[in-house]
Order: sequence, then C-alpha cells, then structure tokens
Amino acid sequence: MPRQLFVTTALPYANGNFHIGHIMEYIQADIWVRYQRMMGNAVHFVCADDCHGAPIMIAAEKAGKTPQQFVADIAAGRKPYLDGFHIGFDNWHSTDGVENHELAQAIYIDLKANGLITTRVIAQFFDTEKNMFLPDRFIKGECPKCGAKDQYGDNCEECGAVYSPTELKNPYSALSGVTPVLRDSEHYFFKLSDPRCVAFLEKWTQGSNSQGQAHLQGEVYNKIKEWLLPDAEGKRDLGDWDISRDAPYFGIEIPDAPGKYFYVWLDAPIGYLASLKNRFIKLAGDVTLGAHNYDAFLADPATEQYHFIGKDIITFHTLFWPAMLHFSGRKTPNAIFVHGFLTVNSEKMSKSRGTGLDPLKYLSLGMNPEWLRYYLATKLTSRNEDVEFSPEDFMARVNSDLVGKYINIASRAAGFLAKRFGGQLGAISDDGTALLTQIQIERTSIEQLYEAREFAKALRETMLLADRVNEYVDANKPWELAKQADMETRLHDVCTVCIESFRALTAYLKPVLPQLATQVEAFLKIEPLSFASVSQPLGAGHAIGNYQHLMQRVDIKQLEALFEPAAPVEPSQTAIESIAPGGETLAPVIGIDDFSKIDLRIARIVNCEAVAGSTKLLRLTLDVGEATTRNVFSGIASSYQPEQLIGKLTVMVANLAPRKMKFGISEGMVLAASHADEKATPGIYVLEPFAGAQPGMRVH
Ligand code: 2FM
Ligand code: ZN
Repeated sequence: MPRQLFVTTALPYANGNFHIGHIMEYIQADIWVRYQRMMGNAVHFVCADDCHGAPIMIAAEKAGKTPQQFVADIAAGRKPYLDGFHIGFDNWHSTDGVENHELAQAIYIDLKANGLITTRVIAQFFDTEKNMFLPDRFIKGECPKCGAKDQYGDNCEECGAVYSPTELKNPYSALSGVTPVLRDSEHYFFKLSDPRCVAFLEKWTQGSNSQGQAHLQGEVYNKIKEWLLPDAEGKRDLGDWDISRDAPYFGIEIPDAPGKYFYVWLDAPIGYLASLKNRFIKLAGDVTLGAHNYDAFLADPATEQYHFIGKDIITFHTLFWPAMLHFSGRKTPNAIFVHGFLTVNSEKMSKSRGTGLDPLKYLSLGMNPEWLRYYLATKLTSRNEDVEFSPEDFMARVNSDLVGKYINIASRAAGFLAKRFGGQLGAISDDGTALLTQIQIERTSIEQLYEAREFAKALRETMLLADRVNEYVDANKPWELAKQADMETRLHDVCTVCIESFRALTAYLKPVLPQLATQVEAFLKIEPLSFASVSQPLGAGHAIGNYQHLMQRVDIKQLEALFEPAAPVEPSQTAIESIAPGGETLAPVIGIDDFSKIDLRIARIVNCEAVAGSTKLLRLTLDVGEATTRNVFSGIASSYQPEQLIGKLTVMVANLAPRKMKFGISEGMVLAASHADEKATPGIYVLEPFAGAQPGMRVH
C-alpha cells in the first residue's frame, strides 16, 4: 500500500529573502520527499510565508507599505530560489491567508472549549509615543546583570543573561526613543501547565509513530525534557504560554476578544495546515469540496504528518504544537525532524543575515544547483547536528566524487556504444552480471538510509558502488579493447555494463539530483527512474541516445567569486535585489513640496567627542553659519574616532525638532549612509560635500 504523507519545512518569516540556511532545510526535505515519491508514496509537500508579528508590522511601516503589501513583495521574491535549487513544494501559501485565519480561530475555540485557555492581567512596557505595547525586541536598555548598554529586552548579547524587559535598567523604546511606561493588559494563555497537557506531552515526546519511529530524535528529546520533566524539587519549567498580543498587531484576531491578536507563534504552525488546505482547495477547484477533502485526508489514520525544522524552534514544535493539535481534537505529527545549523567557512549562521554564501549569487555565477544539493546531502544525517560548508571540501566532493566517479562512468562508455554499436546495448557476461547484482543488492539498504534521512550514508554507499564500476572499467580498459578487432563483443559487453550500472546509480542519486536524473533518462531513452527500476535492466537491443556532457566540474574561480565580498552583480540578480537596494526597500514617492520641507544645510564639525555611557553616540558641535553652534548626537561612534571628524564639513537636517535624549538635547541630525542590516554590512558613512561648500549653505 502506498503511504500518504504530509510534509512541511518551517515557514520562513516574510521579512527577508532566503539565506542558505533556509535552502539547506528545503533541500533536505525535498530529497526526502522525492525519495518517498520514487517509492510510490503520495506526498503533499507544502510551505508558506510566516507573515505575522510585530517585527514585520514595524518593518512594513518603515518601508511605507501596508503589512499585506510588504509580505506580498517578499513572497514575490521566493520563486527564483525555489526553482533555482529544484525545491519542489506542491504549494506555497501565507499565514495571512483566509484558511489560516479560520483554522487558527477554530483551534483556539476548541482549546477554549476544552478548558485550556485562561486570561491573566500582566504589566508590560508601553510606548506612549507609538501608542503600543512594545515587543521584547523593541525595548532596549542596560543589562540587569552586567550593565552592558543597548541590550534587547529579552537577553544580553554581552553576558548572555536572559531576563524580562521589565528588569532592564534605563529602558527605552527602540521605536521612538522614549522611556516606556508599565501598563496592565489582559493576556490570553494556553494552559500548558494543566496536568492533562503535562501528561500528554510526557507521553508524546517519548512516543513512536505508526512506522515504529520515535516522534523525536533522541538528542531532541534530551533537550526538551529539561523543560518538561520536574526537577529535584518537583518544579517544572513548562509554564502557561502567553498567546495574545494587543493591537496594533499584524495578526489574527482572537474571537470574542476585541483588540487582541494571536501571538505569531500560535498561528505560524497552523499555517502548515492552512497551506495544505489551500492545496486541497486548489486541487478540487472548489472551496467546499477542497475543505471536505482536506478534512478527510487529515481524519484518515493512514495519513502521516512530518515537519522538518531547525534546532532553534524545537520547543514550539515538540511541545506547543503537538499539544495545540491534540487538545483541539486534531491529528498530531508523526515525527518532527530537527536539523542543526549550517556554518559556512566555520562561521555561524545569523538568522537575519545568513552567511557569506548568498544562494542567488551562487546561481547567478552559473554554479550548478545540484552541486550544492549533492554536497549538502553528503553532510546530512538524521541527527540534530551542525553542517559545515567548506569550499575546498565542496570542490573535492563534486569534482572527485560526483563528476570524477559517477559521471565519468557514462562518459567512458557512451562514445563507444554510439560509434561502434549504433547506440544499442549488448549482452552482459557473468562478471558484468555480478557487478550489476552487487549494485542491485544495495538497493534496500540505500532505500532505508534515505527513509531514515541518512543521506550522507546513502551517498557514501552509492559512491562505493561507483568505485566498483570504475575498477571494472579500469580492469577491462575499453579504450584498449577498442583497438583489438577480436574484442568487439567484449567491448560491447563492458560498455553495456557501464550504462546499466550508470542507470542504477542514477536512480540511487535521483532524490538528490533530480535535474540530472531527468537528463540521464532522456539520454538513456527510459521512463522516469524509480528504486524498483534498479532491478530491471534495459536489456540487449535497447537503444540509447547521444551522450552530451552531463555535468561540469566546479571551477575554483567560481568559488572565489562566490565568497568575494563585492563580486560583480549579474543582471538577473539586479532585478531580484533591486527590491531592496542597500538592504531596504525604497520609501514611497514624494513630491518636491515634501522634499523642500526638509532644510538641509552644510555644517562644519567644530568639535566632536565621545559620549560617556554610550558606545554608539558621538556628540558633535556644528557650525551652520548661525550665531551659535548646535549640539547634535549621532550614532556613528562605531565608525569614527572623534578626532577624525573635527574640522570636516558635512550635511545636517537643520529644521528637525530638537529631541531630548538620555545624554542631552539633540538639535538636528547629520546625514550618514549605512546598510539596513548593519550587522551584515557594517559601517556608517558621514556625508561630506565637495570642496567649496560653506557652513550654512542650503542643500537642494
Ligand atoms: O523561526 C522562524 O523562522 C519561524 N518563521 C518558523 C515558523 S515555523 C512554523 F511554525 F510556522
Ligand atoms: Zn549582560
């Protein structure tokens, strides 16, 4: 009986392009899905943009867009990555879609009916200028433990302390700069501490699915049991989960709770179901029928549900998500597959800026996406462990193994078959049959390795088989046989064995190299390869097509260009990246009237000094041609020593209302350029006019 599977990857936040970490996860899941399909199983493989939450709402406002427009623009940039790396999701949806609104509300109502929702009044920081409660990430201040300045509201990047925003010293709003006030608000909680939830989770996290496979990898269970199990004093870390946020919030409204929205992490995983439902609706071409089919699919005990995720979001997926599903009367996941992070050149991936390996740049350099798929697959295991991308290793694996061992088999035999035997395969003698049998015997083992997500081992076994074939070629030397008139039959035999072996190895590699497999299928003039076809030789008389080179080797220059900081940008890339030059979208168009409201003046920096107590700010004394100088604070301390700036000319906004800051009043603003993602592209550059400009001149 074919199995029926529902497979997802984590839903990416709709506030940035994909980085290589996303691509690795998608490739891992895509390989597994392709393997399942080759086994005859039916799979729905879906994903969606994770659209909600305060950071996206604030980023949209900054970009001068509605949140809906903002996330739609991000969604529009997904295709080149997915197509480019042959990632075959069956559906791409959005957590802001109607299905997710309905499902999130329905799940909440079911949890509430089950007595698992409670409310509590909590005190939170409120920004009186922005008129909103501040998310932790938008409150900054001094670390309560080590005193480091400018730390976020949830944890300190200096000493690693974790705390609540109300513990920060001298807190300020990262949105407006004002000191936030504490204000009470009623919040909604999912009662995870309810004994029913605790009992369920203790059991589920240690349980197995219908395939006899554990719901969680061992190392993942070991991690979460710290949360789940009571400590020596019988206390548990698992408290009730705050699932509400106050307006303004870009999210899904909580039923019967005006002004309250679901916290983004409540509706994000429900987005898996929403995308699946949306797929069923599209397939049926009808909302009611699609919804019916969706319900039937999930109600079917045979349906298997799997989520591929990264190790940073384990708690949401192994505790909150199964509990939400179970206690709302829904099917729980069959397993959660957790992978580690990708490091590139030993550098840790940052969630927002990725690494030095830009996926679109990779493609624009003409690098073969299947090189990356293959390389990552040689590193991927079933364990939650980090994966290192090393350029040297990448080149070695692709050039020596993939091209040198595997592709080479076809190129060694195809020419002789075409020239000498009209492209027809011949009869195979005993030693060739023995070799083919050796390849076929490994089928079950390779299938099991794919099933268990042990891709590295599956490829290692496949490459060992390629070694056997190359040894056979080296022992039989077809190039020598070709020179001997009486060796025609043996030459035909040896070349046929090569092609049959190549076909079987291609089947083993097909989940990883789908595009190449399609080319091979065309070259061999065969139906799409499955694992079963490994044991069904083409047979003498089968005519293959003309061999065209199947895969180039990696050129070191490509890798150098890939990691070069400012490599020339290809036109195709410009089109995609022009959405956000310098890391941020262009502000909406304004008229000249709007522009002329800003009074820009040439200013001379007559003095500049560090600000005691701030690592970011410099205090500038500016001469703008007025009777007195101006005092301006500028966040440029990371890029300039005060003495570098003294005596220089710059441009300032001279009619900006004075602002009271922690260190004094700032009477204007100097102009400086920076990338939106200062961490990824550090540096802030103060503007300096051409020679001849004088303090006080207006800048038009
Ligand atoms: O961590 C993240 O990138 C989240 N956007 C993942 C969400 S996965 C699922 F729950 F939607
Ligand atoms: Zn600290």
